[in-house]
Amino acid sequence: MLSKSAAKAFFLIGTGISFLAFVGLTYDTFRQIPARTHADQITPEVARGKEIWDHKNCMGCHTIFGEGAYYAPELTKVMERRGEVFVRGMLRDPAAMYPGQRQMVQYDFTDAEIDDLVAFLTWIGHVDTNGFPADPPLRQHLAPAASADGRPLVFQQTCIACHSVGGAGGNVGPALDGVGTRRDADYLTRWLHDPSAVKPEARMPQLGLSDAQVTELVTYLGTLRTEH
Ligand code: HEC
Ligand code: HEC
Repeated sequence: MLSKSAAKAFFLIGTGISFLAFVGLTYDTFRQIPARTHADQITPEVARGKEIWDHKNCMGCHTIFGEGAYYAPELTKVMERRGEVFVRGMLRDPAAMYPGQRQMVQYDFTDAEIDDLVAFLTWIGHVDTNGFPADPPLRQHLAPAASADGRPLVFQQTCIACHSVGGAGGNVGPALDGVGTRRDADYLTRWLHDPSAVKPEARMPQLGLSDAQVTELVTYLGTLRTEH
C-alpha cells in the first residue's frame, strides 16, 4: 500500500513524464512535417488545387490520408493507381468514366481548374505517409486487375477499368481480345484520339491521350490477335 505522500509523488512524477514525452513527440512530428510533405514542392497550382478541393467539399465523399467520408474511393494514391488520363476524365465527366454507377458530381471544371486539382493530387501522392494505406495495402484492392505482360502503363491504369483482356478487367466496353485482327492501326489511332469522331453515338469518352500514348496503345492493341 502506498502512503498518501508516495501516491502523490507517483502521480506528479508520472504525469510529468507523460507530459514531457507528449511534448517531445509533438515537437518531433512538427519538425518532420516539412520534409515528409515536400513542402518546397507546394507550387501555386498545388495551392489552388487544395482551395478547389476544400471549396467543392470533395472530402464530403472522399478521404485523403484516411480523413474524410467513406462514400467514395480513397484518393491519397489515386494518381499512381489510376493515372492522369483517368483522373482528368473523371473530373471532366464522371458519368462517362463510371457509366450507370452511383455517380460523382459533374462539376463543369475548366481545364485550368483540372490542372490545379491534378497538381494537388499529384503532390498529395508524394507525401511520405509512413506506409499509409496500411498493410494489407488498400491500394492493391483498389487497383484494377492487371497483369504485367508489357502493357503500357496507361492501359493498365485507365483502359482496364472499362475493358477486359484475357478475362480480367472491366465490362463497360467490349473485351479487347482479338481487337488487333478486327481493327487496323489507322482506325485504332482515330478511335483513341476521339471515339465520337469515328462513331457519333460512342459511349467511350474522349480521354485526352497524348500522341505518344496513342502510338504506344495502338502498337499494344495490334498484338492482341487471339480471342479469349
Ligand atoms: C457526392 C460525392 C462526391 C463528391 C463531392 C466528390 N466525389 Fe469524386 N467520386 C465519387 C464517387 C461515388 C466516385 C466513384 C465513381 C462512381 O461510382 O461514380 C468518385 C470517384 C472519383 C475519382 C476516381 C477515383 C477512382 O479510384 O476511380 C476521382 C479522381 C475523384 N472522384 C475526385 C474528386 C474530386 C477532386 C472531388 C472534388 C472536386 C470529388 N471527387 C468530389 C463521389 C464524389
Ligand atoms: C469509361 C469507359 C472506357 C474507358 C476508360 C475506355 N474505353 Fe474503350 N470503349 C468503351 C466503350 C463503352 C466502347 C464500345 C464502343 C462505344 O460505344 O463507345 C469502347 C470501345 C473501344 C474500342 C473499339 C473496340 C472495337 O472492337 O471496335 C477500342 C479499341 C477501345 N475501346 C480501346 C480503349 C483503350 C485503348 C482505352 C484506354 C486508353 C479505352 N478504350 C478506355 C469504354 C471505355
